[in-house]
Amino acid sequence: MNHVKFMRIMTVFGVLIFMIGLGSKSLCSKAESKKGAAMKISIIVGSVRSTTTGIQIAQNIQNLLKDRSDIVTDVICVAHYHLPFYTDEASPASRKEEIIEPVLKKWADVVTQAEGFIIVSPEYNGGYPAPLKNALDSLYQEWNNKSVGIVGYSGGPSGGTCMISQLQQVVQRLEMIPVATSIKIPCSWKAFNEYGDLVNASAIEKELNIMVDELIKARKN
Ligand SMILES: Cc1cc2nc3c(=O)[nH]c(=O)nc-3n(C[C@H](O)[C@H](O)[C@H](O)COP(=O)(O)O)c2cc1C
Repeated sequence: MNHVKFMRIMTVFGVLIFMIGLGSKSLCSKAESKKGAAMKISIIVGSVRSTTTGIQIAQNIQNLLKDRSDIVTDVICVAHYHLPFYTDEASPASRKEEIIEPVLKKWADVVTQAEGFIIVSPEYNGGYPAPLKNALDSLYQEWNNKSVGIVGYSGGPSGGTCMISQLQQVVQRLEMIPVATSIKIPCSWKAFNEYGDLVNASAIEKELNIMVDELIKARKN
């Protein structure tokens, strides 16, 4: 092989390597930008009753949002974490060290991973369930600057109006960003059809999409 031929082969080889490099770089950045675009929203089920309607509502919500490519959702049940009542001497707001207590750490990790929340909560005597408040109070920084929408439900006709306004005050104190839209599901005992779907699904779907748009808009990077 003469010198010119050798140089030609090396040039083609170099160009090939350069193009493969460019290709893999653009693939990586595509993956990164997609990851950056899809907001991770956790749907929190606040009732810890074994027969809670909250799981069914959360699953319906997840299903109604499944076609949106700008979010990824999961369902988090407060009941599954078996959180003890918060009794530490220090307030979570002043916590500097990493959490080592395994039960609380598991809860902190799942909250940390979310970028925003939809809290699904029943109304109990005009308020929210105590275990939900304990789950919120047990952390602080993990909630900060994250947007949150509330879906209330109740046995009576209000759909959880009082509970929603109380919970909005609490999340504000946790330095979260409550969005303008909240959703009310009244008369929870007749909120589902025989297939387990929300009877008012199309109206709720519209409100949910507005809520999610607001959650994304309020998202902090
Ligand atoms: C302790 C308790 C208090 C309740 N207080 C109210 C209330 O103030 N207003 C209302 O409309 N329904 C009230 N209900 C009915 C619940 O909101 C309703 O049954 C709801 O579906 C319960 O949700 P869960 O089973 O997911 O906990 C109450 C239920 C319980 C258990």
